[in-house]
Amino acid sequence: MYVCNCNGVTRNEVEEAIAAGAQCPEHVLAHHGCEPCCGRCLPEIAEGIACGGSGISRSLVAAE
Ligand code: FES
Repeated sequence: MYVCNCNGVTRNEVEEAIAAGAQCPEHVLAHHGCEPCCGRCLPEIAEGIACGGSGISRSLVAAE
């Protein structure tokens, strides 16, 4: 499932970037060579960072 539709970044890729030390949503996208476009994914990614990576999974599962 994509977290960032603009860049085609998946939930697993977001978690990988957080595990690698990404400190903010922009760093998560930059980890995969991307930049924010519309910005809609940034709050979702930030929630995952605040929860140490596990929050992104819960919030996305709840949205499915
Ligand atoms: S959905 Fe991520 S920048 Fe648009």
